[in-house]
Amino acid sequence: MRAESKSTSGKRRLVNKDTDSRTPLNLSEYEELAKSVLDKAAYDYYRSGANDELTLAENLQAYKRIQLYPRVLVDVEQRDLTTSVLGQEISMPIMIAPTAFHKMACTLGEIATAQAAEANETLMVLSSLSNTSPEEIAGSTKGPLWFQLYIYKDRTLTKSVIQRVEKLGYKALCITVDAPLLGRRERDVRNRFSLPDGLRIATVGDYLEKSMAENSKTSSLNVYFASLLDQSITWKDIEWIRSISELPIIVKGIHRPDDAIKAIEHGIDGIVVSNHGARQLDTVPATIDLLPSISNAVNGKLEIFLDGGIRRGTDVIKAIALGARAVLIGRPILWGLAVDGVNGASSVLRLIKDETDLAMALCGISRISEANKDLIGYRNA
Ligand code: FNR
Repeated sequence: MRAESKSTSGKRRLVNKDTDSRTPLNLSEYEELAKSVLDKAAYDYYRSGANDELTLAENLQAYKRIQLYPRVLVDVEQRDLTTSVLGQEISMPIMIAPTAFHKMACTLGEIATAQAAEANETLMVLSSLSNTSPEEIAGSTKGPLWFQLYIYKDRTLTKSVIQRVEKLGYKALCITVDAPLLGRRERDVRNRFSLPDGLRIATVGDYLEKSMAENSKTSSLNVYFASLLDQSITWKDIEWIRSISELPIIVKGIHRPDDAIKAIEHGIDGIVVSNHGARQLDTVPATIDLLPSISNAVNGKLEIFLDGGIRRGTDVIKAIALGARAVLIGRPILWGLAVDGVNGASSVLRLIKDETDLAMALCGISRISEANKDLIGYRNA
């Protein structure tokens, strides 16, 4: 929409109201705007990686080393971004990664995220560390949900959470296995990060609150992790979950082909190649660099998803071409929520979907499943 307005000098100028100078044009601009509206401690918590943040930078840099080799003179008039993940149809190969504490970004918190996912016909993975309960989320959307699970030392509690989400209609359990302890994010330590007053970890509410030690010398989230989450879990515990639940299981946090093969041997349905958004072990490689060897080892025996540093449609194409069935985005959704709640998160999803659609057309592919390795080359290879 174009309208006339007066500039400060009094001269008339044309402005486009739909894309005024503050409307973010891409996911990075969403982060810039979010930074200007969020509390510092919240922004730092969302943005941070572990230690020197080398992996945080790598997750983004790695995509810049990968080049695309488009096919030309291909009919791309009709394009199809739809895919299915564990049998669930979604409108694009882009899902919402589980991230904690959405109410620090906007009042509606995870409900806004779920509504944005539904509006864009994609899937949200609800974090165990949500400020909104799995019940409220299930009641707020008709869209498909997966539940991200941490395994607690208290197995009765773990079992009861699994049974709750199964009953509520969540379609899969996404078990995060890269966090026996929480990585050290120095800004959170400096800020003595803890949840703002009035916000809770809703899934297991009261049970946990006594463990969220206030005024700890370190981030209180680290205390929570160390005291409640089980550092002794092994593949046997995944087998235990398999034995008590009918839900498909996805293991999140795979870095190596041999672990991917173990996942196949344990009858796991899917894996997420993920370094937790670079928040756990610093100096691990970018996930996109791990994907080819994992995809090779898996050889189609389970579905591979990937997250970490996906910011552009071309990143999505690269991940699919190298073997991911779909990708997940974490921080950009938080930036969208912070900027404009449901609308912001929705706009983030639309932007990256539109970018993916355009990149597909320019690559000469009309279906997302046609993205394969021969589109890919490496700078400095
Ligand atoms: C996360 N992540 C995460 N993962 C998980 O399994 N459970 C969780 O509660 C959280 N919480 C969380 C909070 C914040 C603020 C961030 C940034 C990340 C990791 C997340 O699922 C995903 O792996 C990364 O966010 C993907 O990387 P990008 O897209 O943020 O670069």
